[in-house]
Amino acid sequence: MIYGDLMLRAIKKADLFKYSAKPNPVVGAIVLKENEIISEGYHEIYGKNHAEINAIEEAKKYLGKRFKDFSELTLLCTLEPCSHVGKTGSCANFIVKTGFKKVVIGAVDPNPYVSGRGIKILEKNQIHVEVGLHADLVEKQNKFFFYKHKKNKPYVTVKIASSLDGKSHYKNKKNFITTESSRKDVQLIRANYDAILTGGNTLRIDDPKMDARVDFFVNQAKKILLTNKPYDNNSIFFKDASVDVINITNLQEIIYSYKDSEICSILVEAGPKLVNAFLHEQIVDELIVYTSKDELGENAVSWFDEDNAIENYGFKLESSYKIDTDTKEIFKRDD
Ligand SMILES: NC(=O)c1ccc[n+]([C@@H]2O[C@H](COP(=O)([O-])OP(=O)(O)OC[C@H]3O[C@@H](n4cnc5c(N)ncnc54)[C@H](OP(=O)(O)O)[C@@H]3O)[C@@H](O)[C@H]2O)c1
Repeated sequence: MIYGDLMLRAIKKADLFKYSAKPNPVVGAIVLKENEIISEGYHEIYGKNHAEINAIEEAKKYLGKRFKDFSELTLLCTLEPCSHVGKTGSCANFIVKTGFKKVVIGAVDPNPYVSGRGIKILEKNQIHVEVGLHADLVEKQNKFFFYKHKKNKPYVTVKIASSLDGKSHYKNKKNFITTESSRKDVQLIRANYDAILTGGNTLRIDDPKMDARVDFFVNQAKKILLTNKPYDNNSIFFKDASVDVINITNLQEIIYSYKDSEICSILVEAGPKLVNAFLHEQIVDELIVYTSKDELGENAVSWFDEDNAIENYGFKLESSYKIDTDTKEIFKRDD
């Protein structure tokens, strides 16, 4: 009972770091002496300490004061401690060395290369391990991370802005279609994704920055540019960003090439050519459409060639909202 409540606390507090820890999953850890919290730790910033390390380092301050030995304590963590020596060393080995005798885990790591290995290290070293407490919530809060490892590809979302008459843009011209409120909403969406992908035409015509301009700290997304033609590499798109420029056009190959990377989610923000190519390949999981109240008229370029294209690509409307005078619709695939 007490563990259940503490797991919920760790899950909730871990969520505070979802924008700064990505593309890593958010993780929380609590060190306990029976029912008393000795310390807590979270994976706060990508590349920095994992949650277990932060919690244990904090607990060390109370060694000899609130407890005599780590063997008296239990470590609770929302996700299986890692077994691999990455940027920060193996958490499972660190837990063993610290001297815990009991560890309570929320969800098992879904990465098939490491799944269960952290638990094995703990059990081999005579640590009693309990697994599965609120695992469903841990999975839900790390939706993209679990998706990538289960489906072997990043989660792909396409976001488009459309006029009321289904148009994307006037040829060779940068123009805003939706309201400022919708464009603010897009900043929040960007803040959630590990990578933002666009095509050469959008880069050359719009000169976009495509980062998340929000008033909290975000580990900004990697940018992915698909192009075979010349582009200005001094454009703002490249400023302070990690960019993959890809000159192959096979979208399946491109998306699946990220399966072994840290990238768990990709937001596609491009014009009709690339968007339709993505939808055609059936590798898109979610489509977000912002529609304005105004029409662009005959001289503008249409998003789709046919009526009901979104449904014909296999999407169903999941939710719709009003944002100022625009409509925001979220579509997901049938499967
Ligand atoms: N309303 C909106 O939400 C929105 C969003 C973004 C952009 N736009 C507008 O869209 C316009 C550009 O649209 P667009 O349709 O011409 O271009 P696009 O979809 O942005 O990009 C197409 C380009 O992507 C590259 N590409 C690589 N692999 C591809 C593949 N398999 N299929 C298709 N393209 C591939 C090619 O680049 P290279 O030719 O460089 O090799 C291709 O020309 C701009 O005017 C921009 O303002 C509108």
